[in-house]
Amino acid sequence: MQYGFFDDDAREYAITRPDTPYPWINYLGCEDFFGLFSNTSGGYCFYRDARMLRLTRYRYNNVPADAGGRYFYLRDNGDVWTPSWMPMKSKLDRYECRHGMGYSKISSSRNGLAFSQTSFVPLHDTCEIHKVTLTNESKSDKNIDLFSFIEFCLWNANDDMTNFQRNFSIGEVEIDGSRIYHKTEYRERRNHYAVWAVNVPIEGFDTDRQAFLGLYNGFDHPQAVFDGKAKNSVASGWAPIGSHHIKARLAPGESKTFVFVLGYCENPDDQKWEKAVPGGNHGVINKKPANALLEKYNTPESVNNALAALNDYWKALLGRFTVDAEDKKMARMAGIWNQYQCMITFNMSRSASYFESGIGRGMGFRDSNQDLLGFVHLVPERARARILDIAATQFPDGSAYHQYQPLTKRGNNEIGSGFNDDPLWLICGVAAYIKETGDYGILDEKVPFDNDESLADTLFVHLKRSFDYTVTHKGPHGLPLIGRADWNDCLNLNCFSKTPGESFQTTANFESGVAESVLIAAIFAFTGPDYAEICKRTGRNDEAQYAEKAIAAMIEAINQHGWDGDWFVRAYDAYGKKIGSRECDDGKIFIESNGFAVMADIGIKDGRAQKALDSVKEHLDSKYGIVLLQPAYKDYHLELGEVSSYPPGYKENAGIFCHNNPWVTIAETRLGRGNRAFETYTKICPAYREDDSDLRRMEPYVYAQMVAGKDAVNHGEAKNSWLTGTAAWTFVSISQYILGVRPCFDGLILDPCIPSNMKGFTVTRHFRGADYHITVDNSAGVEKGVKSITVDGKPHDSTVLPVFGDNKVHKIVVTMGK
Ligand code: GLC
Ligand code: GLC
Repeated sequence: MQYGFFDDDAREYAITRPDTPYPWINYLGCEDFFGLFSNTSGGYCFYRDARMLRLTRYRYNNVPADAGGRYFYLRDNGDVWTPSWMPMKSKLDRYECRHGMGYSKISSSRNGLAFSQTSFVPLHDTCEIHKVTLTNESKSDKNIDLFSFIEFCLWNANDDMTNFQRNFSIGEVEIDGSRIYHKTEYRERRNHYAVWAVNVPIEGFDTDRQAFLGLYNGFDHPQAVFDGKAKNSVASGWAPIGSHHIKARLAPGESKTFVFVLGYCENPDDQKWEKAVPGGNHGVINKKPANALLEKYNTPESVNNALAALNDYWKALLGRFTVDAEDKKMARMAGIWNQYQCMITFNMSRSASYFESGIGRGMGFRDSNQDLLGFVHLVPERARARILDIAATQFPDGSAYHQYQPLTKRGNNEIGSGFNDDPLWLICGVAAYIKETGDYGILDEKVPFDNDESLADTLFVHLKRSFDYTVTHKGPHGLPLIGRADWNDCLNLNCFSKTPGESFQTTANFESGVAESVLIAAIFAFTGPDYAEICKRTGRNDEAQYAEKAIAAMIEAINQHGWDGDWFVRAYDAYGKKIGSRECDDGKIFIESNGFAVMADIGIKDGRAQKALDSVKEHLDSKYGIVLLQPAYKDYHLELGEVSSYPPGYKENAGIFCHNNPWVTIAETRLGRGNRAFETYTKICPAYREDDSDLRRMEPYVYAQMVAGKDAVNHGEAKNSWLTGTAAWTFVSISQYILGVRPCFDGLILDPCIPSNMKGFTVTRHFRGADYHITVDNSAGVEKGVKSITVDGKPHDSTVLPVFGDNKVHKIVVTMGK
């Protein structure tokens, strides 16, 4: 069943019934202030860091689901209802939620009262705006009571949910007309507060949760609303909230619009108070920044302008890569939603979603480098800055902090390092950046090691240390040592954990010095040549030669010890035994090493690559995508770690871990098998499963990290939507390898590998200061092969398009054929 539809012209997904199989969310904000926003107005917002500076409270894993949000309650002649459906689950005559690029709109109606809400974070300001319009669609006058409601988080989201002995005594607010200020901890070390305001005079307010809701009521039965009267409560400790009570009289046909703003404001330490009280701490907060913010968004017109500016921003951004094709599902995913999701992973990494609580993980070293592959063409300058941030958390020996905190940009000591794939992803990210921009200057940037300026050296030296780390950390078969884990966080070959609750990743209690990863070897073989090429192009010829030798040695080790007869081995455990081999009982074949080895072109000439991918299809494929391994581990294996902790079919234990499916897609294009490449692409692509939403459950417009595998009870059910490396890699697979528009050091390669029944497509691509309008004609019905290319009407005898850099549009026509 479908719960809505794509509106491609508006770049929106329209949800037409509120009871989606899971809350279907959107993200508001693209700079410093962010909100998560569900189709029933649930979610929360934060400034920069979802853990440290959270403005509003949200209850994860709550009953009922999706508890906490920006709620509006209506009271229409005694009839109380919530126009966003939740939290009252009100019966609505009409409902629609449209998630667009950085904004969401909910509209509904009941008994002739229409409601609409437009929510977004304006560019360059630190607030959420909720523009609410009420329209009387009935034939008689209406006297409406409108109540707003948000619940403040006491900033640190972790303490907020745990430290009640303190929290219940520290909450503080100030009320000034229609503006409610949340200033908990402002009296001491914080220099920021939140403001929740509306642009009209109010009838009353509430700031104490119990006064507004009633102690034993849920969000679905706020006492004040049912009483039709705010209590004018002033929170002192307990749970501060913000609620406005507005009375609106509406003649038939009449509309009224209200602008609600939820803002984050900071003051310099010496200007925290309106009237400084010498030696005292009971001042009134300095509202200057709030006044400026609220003045700016005081009218519906100014809000509309801000929304238009936001639309322009997204239009320009997505204009850098557009697709048109007969297959609208592919076109809308590649052209709109996949890129949008890549920007969300840029902003959020793995911190805040409906599956990531915002208090857990920071920015991952490997994750952030891979995410970059998906947004570098959209925001190259920000990608550059991101690379320098990431590189600064690398250790002098080339290894890296596995994660770092976005606010401090410092490596995370609790997790530490020892994930031996990490260093190579930096090469992968930097190579992608240089291919996109041609900016070799980044290599000369001085970047600290371990955030220590005194250890700073050029980014090039960082790359060299990354490369060398793999070269110098090999095991008995000449393959890279795996350390705590490689890309697969759950293959913990040096952690023999018997203690419940112990971390599989950080409890390295079995330093075997033996366990090796074929995947890291394949990543090295894939990304190493880019390093060698960068060396050559910057005049470092000796280094390039050294690198090429090291790569050849690695490929030799894969050939010798990484081939199992029908597919590539996955790893060697701490006892030197194979993982991902026919010698194993479970876990005979894994997806990762097969995809990546073929991506690195290993075995293409001698037919092993074809064999490996055929084996992947035979053993790992399913209706909903390729599972990570087979057979699933049925028992816990001390020597394998977390991978065997999951029930069969979930997560790394034979789930469809979508992140690595595009590796197989890309690998298939290396073999020229466009039909199969596209099949693997569509299987995990959400738009193709829109009418299967009851089973899939997650948003049909974004990728999920995992879909339950064929061993799972709920095969086909997705989880962990939004924040996943799947976004970047699927975008790479569709844009660069299937549609085949791929940046390289010299320019833009045209190398499509598409299904034979795809008659053609067009792509527009902004690349190094020019626009390429590319039309691909496949009336020949081939899967791969370019017969001819014209550039601005003239024949062009290479598949590499020149770098024009002239701010002009260039017309490229590609004819496929043999
Ligand atoms: C998660 C992690 C990522 C890891 C993957 C596989 O997506 O964020 O770093 O590679 O799981 O374990
Ligand atoms: C990744 C994996 C997850 C594992 C976690 C450990 O996110 O997907 O299964 O628990 O890493 O850090």
